[in-house]
Amino acid sequence: MIDLATESFDVCAFGGACWDLLSLVPRYPELDEKIQIEQLSMQGGGLAGTAAATVARLGGRVAIFSRIGDDSFGDSIRQSFEDEGVDTTWLAEIPGARSHFSLCIVDGVTGKRTILYDYGGKGTFGVDEIDWEALLDCRCLMSDSHHGDTSLTAVRRARDAGIPVVLDLEREKPLSTELLAAASHPVLPRRYALEASGCDSVEDAGRALLARGPEVVVITLGPDGATGFRGDQMIHQPAIPVAPVIDTTGAGDVFHGAFAYGVALGWDLGQNLRFSAAVAALKCRRLGGRAGIPTMDEVREYLP
Ligand SMILES: Nc1ncnc2c1ncn2[C@@H]1O[C@H](COP(=O)(O)OP(=O)(O)O)[C@@H](O)[C@H]1O
Ligand SMILES: [Mg+2]
Repeated sequence: MIDLATESFDVCAFGGACWDLLSLVPRYPELDEKIQIEQLSMQGGGLAGTAAATVARLGGRVAIFSRIGDDSFGDSIRQSFEDEGVDTTWLAEIPGARSHFSLCIVDGVTGKRTILYDYGGKGTFGVDEIDWEALLDCRCLMSDSHHGDTSLTAVRRARDAGIPVVLDLEREKPLSTELLAAASHPVLPRRYALEASGCDSVEDAGRALLARGPEVVVITLGPDGATGFRGDQMIHQPAIPVAPVIDTTGAGDVFHGAFAYGVALGWDLGQNLRFSAAVAALKCRRLGGRAGIPTMDEVREYLP
């Protein structure tokens, strides 16, 4: 079949990219305790960064729009994208600045993670620093809220151009309300969806958030899967079982990348929820946000 698409990218990812240092420990330590690390890993992270790596691993055409410092973490962040085949043309290196860095402690009992982060000194994009033509040359924009005002401008411009926007918002930030109203496909973790909507249940939260303007709302529920809302439709997708679950770091970021790719491919909500849940679940088998991201063939093999 001839692909008539004229866009250069399936997904452009706009937001944060960082370097993660992950330690898997047999159990979460007490205050003042000394504990031996079972497994150590360093890899790229960040909401938009890991979403971009996911699209690339799945075989999609993807570019990252983010900032790094000119330190060794920045070099590693860039290399991690290049190794995956993510286009780094718009990965801006800021002279003399520190990169975004995260220290993740993963509890060997539950696979849950605690994250300490430093945004570094690389700052955020101003509106006039963006190559808008390139950013909007995609079938789907994936954005987090890392660049503040400029994130909101990106979301609004994409939507004005008729490009669907998958938004990752994990917690209350300035402009959250505006971002939620502007995105076409906000995908939020349960805790923040309940907080942002002021509702007590996932169903009420989904419907309330949908009433603010998006076409689709998805609420992710960790080991309980994800629920999607569109019009009067509510679709619950249970988590896809995998064993063993080693680490859930980045499960949400990977879900966002997979979901944005599904939107770019024009998949319907139910199909995309199932696909994204499988991609995110398979990620959980390995330590770190990116090591366990599957290829499309692995997803097909896993999903009957
Ligand atoms: N233990 C798990 N087993 C299988 N899938 C999981 C597990 N934890 C998370 N997931 C998948 O990852 C998605 C995102 O995880 P969630 O914890 O909700 O987001 P975040 O990482 O942003 O907090 C879930 O919707 C689910 O599909
Ligand atoms: Mg998340």
